[in-house]
Amino acid sequence: MRVFLSGMPKAELHLHLEGSLSPETIAAIAKRNGLDYFTTAEEVERSLADRPPGLMGFLKHHFKSQEVMQSRQDFYDATYGLAAKLKENNVVYADLFFDPQAHTSRGISFSDMFGGLDAGRRDAEAELGIEINLIMCIQRERSVDSAFEMLDQAAPFRDRIIGLGMDSGPEYGNPPVKFRQVYARAREEGYYLTGHHDVDVRDSVEHIWQSLEIIGMDRIDHGLNAVDDPRLVTELARRDMCLTGSPVKRTTDPAPQDVDRIKKLDEAGVCVSLNTDDPEEFESGYLTNMLILFQQASGYSEADMTRLMLNAFNALWLGDVEKRAYFAQLREYAGANGVAWADVTRQ
Ligand code: HPA
Ligand code: ZN
Repeated sequence: MRVFLSGMPKAELHLHLEGSLSPETIAAIAKRNGLDYFTTAEEVERSLADRPPGLMGFLKHHFKSQEVMQSRQDFYDATYGLAAKLKENNVVYADLFFDPQAHTSRGISFSDMFGGLDAGRRDAEAELGIEINLIMCIQRERSVDSAFEMLDQAAPFRDRIIGLGMDSGPEYGNPPVKFRQVYARAREEGYYLTGHHDVDVRDSVEHIWQSLEIIGMDRIDHGLNAVDDPRLVTELARRDMCLTGSPVKRTTDPAPQDVDRIKKLDEAGVCVSLNTDDPEEFESGYLTNMLILFQQASGYSEADMTRLMLNAFNALWLGDVEKRAYFAQLREYAGANGVAWADVTRQ
């Protein structure tokens, strides 16, 4: 099973650049920029270990560590370094989230940040053969005006950014509808739309409904509380709406989170995929390791694990020809490993 999961061609749809900085990378960049904190990997690891539980505790370390990034070169190195890790995990396609406001609010220019990121993913594509598209996220705790300003700053790079997302927190008090006008303009400008619905935050189910019915999102990030509302489960399945699940595991967790919810959604015919979210900030790490942990906790077969990966490829924002090529790659891999496609698709 480990060998099967390791070799499987993979897609990642929920992956943050800012959560993919290794302690070594953070320390090297901090030193290069002459900072007086996070100059050793041990110091970064201590901060990771000491963070309080829950989303807001997670975000405390998450924000502090990314502040080391300042120059175009920093963003280039972070992106290219991440792509090399993806390659090791046989990830062939990734949608990569980034948080412009977290950087522009510190005085970094949008074009420096984006220039480094975009050059990093383009070089990775040419040299490592991984397709990476970029999703810029609104930080939901910031103002609507700030989100509009971000869209303005992104306008010159519109054709190099595939989608608009929304992350950070707290989520309660900052629901999807707060940004309905921002999303409406992004839709007019041709962006695909997605957004975070972190698990077990207050009113999560209501927020998912808002994103479906009012915003018209194309994907739902996290969103696993949908399982609490049978009508929502039916609606997600009917629309073939994909949830980008992230069954991450922290050091203190006995097993990956939300395995039962993911199984229930999968059994109900909802398109749910497995993603690492912030691979350097959770013990679950990169995608091969996460798949292994999920499989062990779920008891899923090779065919079941292939179906969850097929869900990710199904949810790509690409044309039919490109998507069919990815389906074929996965199907060929399954076939070569004796996995019947009828078991994968349950047809
Ligand atoms: N939720 C909210 N904000 C985030 C996350 C997340 O899972 N990861 C990185 N920023
Ligand atoms: Zn996330």
